[in-house]
Amino acid sequence: MAHGDDGKDGYFPESIAADYDRSAARMFTPEALDPTLDLLAELAGKGPALEFGIGTGRVALPLRARGVDVHGIDLSRAMVARLRAKPGGEQVPVEIGDFATTRVDGGDGAGGFTLAYLVFNTIGNLLTQDAQVDCFRNAAAHLAPGGTFVVELEVPALRLLPYGQEAVPFQVSDTRWAFDRYDVATQAMSSNYFTVDPGTGQGSCWTIPFRYAWPSELDLMARIAGLRLRERWDGWTREPFTSDSRQHVSVWEKAG
Ligand SMILES: C[S@@+](CC[C@H](N)C(=O)[O-])C[C@H]1O[C@@H](n2cnc3c(N)ncnc32)[C@H](O)[C@@H]1O
Repeated sequence: MAHGDDGKDGYFPESIAADYDRSAARMFTPEALDPTLDLLAELAGKGPALEFGIGTGRVALPLRARGVDVHGIDLSRAMVARLRAKPGGEQVPVEIGDFATTRVDGGDGAGGFTLAYLVFNTIGNLLTQDAQVDCFRNAAAHLAPGGTFVVELEVPALRLLPYGQEAVPFQVSDTRWAFDRYDVATQAMSSNYFTVDPGTGQGSCWTIPFRYAWPSELDLMARIAGLRLRERWDGWTREPFTSDSRQHVSVWEKAG
């Protein structure tokens, strides 16, 4: 189970949840979200869908607005409280728990979902290989035959690291500096943010740990769980996945 600074809400306590939608605003734009919704709605078909790490409902709420019966699992009560406060948020069935192990009922038992999905690099919040394998097993256990599990994840940026260097900066502005830090021996990494409030000049830090994994390792986890790769794209707009891809959207299928 993932644990964070307050031990209750994982890595997304109230201090992070309160600012989540604003700090991730780019991910809420139609350009970012519409292709995600198009693919997930297509894969869900008529069946219920399950979002692992549903958060404040960035994906779940607009997907429900498209007619998909989305359920969710999340560790953070603070994030789910934000979801609940939005129009339609009270109606979303959400279980508080670890998505590597928590089972929910999709109306036809736990195995009745046509789609399970885990976006925005969140599978990396499981910090061991065992926990990531459990997550694939848990997704498979929720799926009906022919159902799919979709993961959106960055490709580890190790090609940016010369020997001896462990940090990769990814955001530099007047008020925010952010970098990823890699330990290639253990596949541990962390994303680190230092932000200054321009009004008060006060600084704040946030570090969130991940375990990075290559697409091929995920494919093996999927096979262990009884799933087979159906598609892998560079992103939600379904461009081909290539050796230069920085991220992937992968779709594994449960045998029919
Ligand atoms: C980056 S946010 C993404 C939220 C939402 N899926 C989105 O795309 O905006 C990650 C979410 O996953 C949740 N989370 C992380 N690890 C988890 C775990 N092991 N079990 C359940 N929820 C987890 C966090 O509490 C947080 O709400």
